[in-house]
Amino acid sequence: MVFESKIRTIQWVDNVSRMVDQTKVPYEYVMVDIKTGDEMYDAIKTMIVRGAPAIGVSAAHGVVLYAQELMNKGLSREEFISQLTQKAEYLKTSRPTAVNLMWGVDRQLEILHNSTSDIKGMVEELKQNGIKMENDDIAINKSIGEYGADVVPKGATILTHCNAGALATVGYGTALGVVRSAYARDNSIQVFSDETRPRQQGSRITTFELKMDGIPVTMITDGMCSYFMKKGMIDMVVVGADRIAANGDTANKIGTYTVAIAAKYHNIPFYIAAPLSTIDTSIKSGEEIPIEERSHDEVTTINGKLVCAEGVNVINPGFDVTPHELITGIITEVGILKPDYNESIKNAFANERKPLLI
Ligand code: MRU
Repeated sequence: MVFESKIRTIQWVDNVSRMVDQTKVPYEYVMVDIKTGDEMYDAIKTMIVRGAPAIGVSAAHGVVLYAQELMNKGLSREEFISQLTQKAEYLKTSRPTAVNLMWGVDRQLEILHNSTSDIKGMVEELKQNGIKMENDDIAINKSIGEYGADVVPKGATILTHCNAGALATVGYGTALGVVRSAYARDNSIQVFSDETRPRQQGSRITTFELKMDGIPVTMITDGMCSYFMKKGMIDMVVVGADRIAANGDTANKIGTYTVAIAAKYHNIPFYIAAPLSTIDTSIKSGEEIPIEERSHDEVTTINGKLVCAEGVNVINPGFDVTPHELITGIITEVGILKPDYNESIKNAFANERKPLLI
């Protein structure tokens, strides 16, 4: 049973990419029009749009925006393809960890390099593919939600970290997609949301979107998770992912690894919810996942105010890697993958073309 969410994060409208400005949530819920490829680069870098699947679709839109700009420059077909390819490769450098960014650009480059159309035709094909990727994302999340809901116990309290919700995707969400589908079946479930320092995607975005959709949510600070696990108040953990290696090791927002260790200690199931586009089969293990190093201001300040001694030493990795042995299952659009992940991930890609469940 699918839950109807009020949130649509990204939409291609009138030749621009219209998206929720997530730097303003929860103070404001406003849409911003991204009109050029360079604006899309900045939107991804400054986290106007964030969350791996949302970044992937935005990047695909970014390629269309660059294509629209190059279209009227009087270029030959070959020059158009070559210049657009360069711009697309540049878009990939806006953030390093979420592999959906590279995936979104590569899906567009496939269209570009396989097209037999003239420039105008190619721009149209890229646009149609960008819109298709938007709609596919929602359908994929709903499928993840349905598979995930099967493993949510009756009346469960689900702990999540960061925001892997409608606002981290085009709509519905991955981890929060599981929550939405489970809630549609059983409205006695509830969510505990980690605050998720330093950028507070849990407190700012997860609590905001669950409140908006009327799903019960309690916010806790990051250090509290083991306290509530010991008290028997958490039944399962479901989080998203930014990149999953071929062996199941999973990069997600910094602090996820701590939650996974605490869950293992307390014998609580720990699930990753992510589309196949987040799995990077080109890398063997989490050791190879590039981890974004972010600005120190995110740690030293809150709302622009210093919260520590001036000039203190700071390190601010944006993500950590949860080793595969701590992961109970990876909930994807083709089913729940179980250990041995090398095997189940291979099989998932073999079955990728299977129709979605919904
Ligand atoms: O830095 P962010 O906010 O882009 O990080 C987001 C996360 O870590 C999410 O959990 C992940 O991208 C999955 S979103 C469905």
